[in-house]
Parts: sequence; C-alpha cells; structure tokens
Amino acid sequence: MTAQLISIKSRSNNIDYNKLPQHIAIIMDGNGRWAKQQGLPRIEGHRQGAKTLKKILRTCKNWGIKTLTVYAFSTENWGRPLTEVNFLMNLFERLLRKQLQEMQQEGVCIKFLGDLSPLPLSLQQAIRHSMAMTQNNQGINFNVAINYGGRDEIVKACRNIAEKVARQELSTEIINADLISQHLYTTNNPDPDLLIRTSGEMRLSNFLLWQMAYTEIYVTDTFWPDFDTKQLEKAIVNYQKRDRRFGTIK
Ligand code: IPE
Ligand code: IPE
Ligand code: MG
Repeated sequence: MTAQLISIKSRSNNIDYNKLPQHIAIIMDGNGRWAKQQGLPRIEGHRQGAKTLKKILRTCKNWGIKTLTVYAFSTENWGRPLTEVNFLMNLFERLLRKQLQEMQQEGVCIKFLGDLSPLPLSLQQAIRHSMAMTQNNQGINFNVAINYGGRDEIVKACRNIAEKVARQELSTEIINADLISQHLYTTNNPDPDLLIRTSGEMRLSNFLLWQMAYTEIYVTDTFWPDFDTKQLEKAIVNYQKRDRRFGTIK
C-alpha cells in the first residue's frame, strides 16, 4: 500500500511511511501479570489481551504494514493448568468465529502457524474455515502462531526435506537456507523486520527462531493488555532509527 492510500485520519505524524517494517512479529506477553495487578484471575488478562489484538491488527492494516505475526500459544504453553489451556482454546475459537466477518470486510488474510493437529477439532474446523474464506484478501497478512515452537518447526522441516531426499525428489546439494525457509510454516512470508515483546522479558521463548536471524528487537515493559496504538507507534519510530547492517559495513 502506498503512503497516499493510507487514510489521513488514522495516520501517525511521527512515522515515516516510506520506511515501514514490512513484517512485524509480536510476542503478546504479560496477560497474567496484568490480571494480577488488577486483582483479577489470569483469564481476564487473556480476555483483555484479545481486545488489544483486535485494535493492533486494525492499526497495522491502516498504517500499511503488510504482515503481522502474533504468538498466541507456544508448544510449551500446554504445561499450564488445564483450566487456563481450555480457556485459551475456547477463546481462540470464539474470537475466530465472532471476528471472521469483520476481518473479511477489512481484507485480512488470516493464516495459522504451528502444529494444529492437537487442537480441539471444533477449533481446527474454525481455523480451516477462516483460512479458506480469507485466502484471497489483500489488506494485511495476519499470522497467528498456535501450538507453535521454533524448534518444532525446524525439526518438521528437516524431516520433510529428508523424506524428499529419500524419495529422490531432492538431492542434498540443493539444500540451502532458502529451501529450508520454504519448508517452514512461514513459507512465502518475508522474515520479520521488527519483533515487539511486551512485559519486559528479554527472550525469544522459541518464537520464529530461524526467521529472526536479523530481526530488530523492541521490548517494552507494558503488559500486552495495556499495549496500544501509541506504543505501537513508539516501537515503529524506534525501529526506523536503527541502522540495519546485516553483517556488512557502510
Ligand atoms: C501471554 O501472557 C499469553 C500466553 C502465553 C497465552 P501470559 O499468560 O504469559 O502472561 P504472564 O507472562 O504470565 O504475565
Ligand atoms: C511466550 O510467552 C508465548 C506467548 C506469548 C504465546 P510465555 O509467557 O509462554 O514465555 P516465557 O515462559 O515467559 O518464556
Ligand atoms: Mg508470559
């Protein structure tokens, strides 16, 4: 989307629209701590976090960000109490069903990254339906990582490639970084330019390990439910001041 097409109303004066990150990844962390701070059960933090996501997705689309990838549930998050896991699975399904029409109207193309096979069948069905419905939309690519783990993704890619070699569909000489990228869940997406992690933790927690080799990292202490458009603007402005060298010198 060109700068001219972005509606003036939703624009931020501080952002350089010619230097936007094409792909933003977000580790939406701190829902539990936000709830605790308010004296509420953890699930209320997740409920509020879902509202934040709705707003941030819309803002990214309005500002002309091409791809937004969010971490919703990691392969390690199954280790949480069953009540919290069940709440999250129900929340994902409810949100997906409720928001689908609006996402469709706004031109959101939704995809899911991760091993979806252990998810509740009704959620899997909602996921398949939403991807099929929105596959031709051009407004923004919205990737949701559910039961996603960076190591798991790389293991699956290796296995997939090894099977192709065994079947003599591939020869080992042509295995390179591009080929591996094509076998990841993010196939066809450019690598993230900017990673935002909320709630202060300075770690990747198994998110997009391969893809973030040269991603710029921005960490804010704000808990995800409190993250807003102003904060997103701050992260993008900060990103735009970075000198991305990719190992070279000028
Ligand atoms: C992130 O918030 C949401 C998920 C992992 C599903 P947390 O639930 O991790 O919140 P904190 O880190 O405990 O505050
Ligand atoms: C990362 O947050 C996963 C998601 C945001 C979905 P966690 O809260 O699970 O990560 P750790 O445990 O702090 O590393
Ligand atoms: Mg957390």
